Amino acid sequence: MKLNLPRLHNRVEKLAEIGHTQEGGARRIALTDEDKLGRDLLVSWMTETGLDIHIDQIGNIFGILKGSSGKAPIMMGSHIDTVGNGGHLDGCFGVLSGLEVIAAYVDHGEMPHHDLCVAIFTNEEGVRFQPDMMGSLVYAGGMDLEAAYQAESYDDTNLKGELIRTKYLGDMKCGSIIPHAFVELHIEQGPILEKKGIHIGVVENLQGISWAKITFKGQANHAGTSPGTTFIKLGVGFITPTVAARDITTKIGAGQVATVGVINPAPNLINVVPGEVEMTVDLRNSDEGKLKVAEELLKLATHRICEEEGVSVSVEKLARFEPVEFDSPICNLIYETSHSLGYKTIRMTSGAGHDAQMMARICPAAMIFVPSRDGISHNPKEFTSKEDLNRGAEVLFQSVIKLDRRSST
Ligand code: HGY
Ligand code: MN
Ligand code: MN
Repeated sequence: MKLNLPRLHNRVEKLAEIGHTQEGGARRIALTDEDKLGRDLLVSWMTETGLDIHIDQIGNIFGILKGSSGKAPIMMGSHIDTVGNGGHLDGCFGVLSGLEVIAAYVDHGEMPHHDLCVAIFTNEEGVRFQPDMMGSLVYAGGMDLEAAYQAESYDDTNLKGELIRTKYLGDMKCGSIIPHAFVELHIEQGPILEKKGIHIGVVENLQGISWAKITFKGQANHAGTSPGTTFIKLGVGFITPTVAARDITTKIGAGQVATVGVINPAPNLINVVPGEVEMTVDLRNSDEGKLKVAEELLKLATHRICEEEGVSVSVEKLARFEPVEFDSPICNLIYETSHSLGYKTIRMTSGAGHDAQMMARICPAAMIFVPSRDGISHNPKEFTSKEDLNRGAEVLFQSVIKLDRRSST
């Protein structure tokens, strides 16, 4: 059996046309019209491949090719929603490669032993509705469906309303298909593979994630007449946590990352002292103990501002996931497969969150990484060469064949 790589790259390009930004990136934020169009396109390709299609209660999409034994499926997949101005490969390549692996079986009239399934998870990026990896989190039982339905976005919509509007509120119960194994192919989105000249990363674990929304409340006032201290209060209000986030990474050291991605002073006008400042802090570490220390340091910094500046603060936890270990027998199988194909291969940790970390709660799961040029992602400059993409698809393909045959004996 062989993959039809031209078809795979064709589909990457076709999907990239939907939500194409003028900087050459992709904007298909979860459950927007563009995300719907992308979903419709993927469903049409799944139908063309002859797959049974199921949509669950949170809009996750599953395309299934029946196997000879009717045993639980080997599942591949990822997401096709993007951040605000992302790239064309983040998530998409994992979905399209999974579909390509199944299409290769169909093209060659090969019946797998296990059912084979490709999944598209809803709202992996979490930029419109938090938390991220929401579709796979609900699927794996980590978040209550009703709570997810109520998730509100910056544009005053809620998730359930958008599922109904885009016609992706399915009736399949979340979690009703428990895979035999879940394997996600994804771009690394970091610099390690490229720097080391490595073709394939076998992801053994994934770091913990802590998202918080911090809102400082002061007194909006005239920029010219209000006493200097008022201005300093709010100015410090969002500068200090940003400095604190940076200090946390230096205090905790290597392996700790912190990002202040959103800062919204209100009313955000040139001659008005902000009455309120809303900001987000994203903390990550593959060591749960250190991640807890990072959260504690942020809390202390936030409260110190309130005392010193006399402003009030509210903190909302938007996401909190512990670090995850993937399935070592599957990691070993992927490593051996990649090695036997002659690819330079290492074992590594994922800095980014992925649907596989949620699926690992209900089945053996693992991930395959391919290099990202300059380690860039969540950016129109996101790029991976065709040769690297092909190697990743081949490792996924051969690993699935092995997983399928391994349990048919
Ligand atoms: O946040 C993440 O790491 C993922 O891109 N949603
Ligand atoms: Mn992704
Ligand atoms: Mn992403």
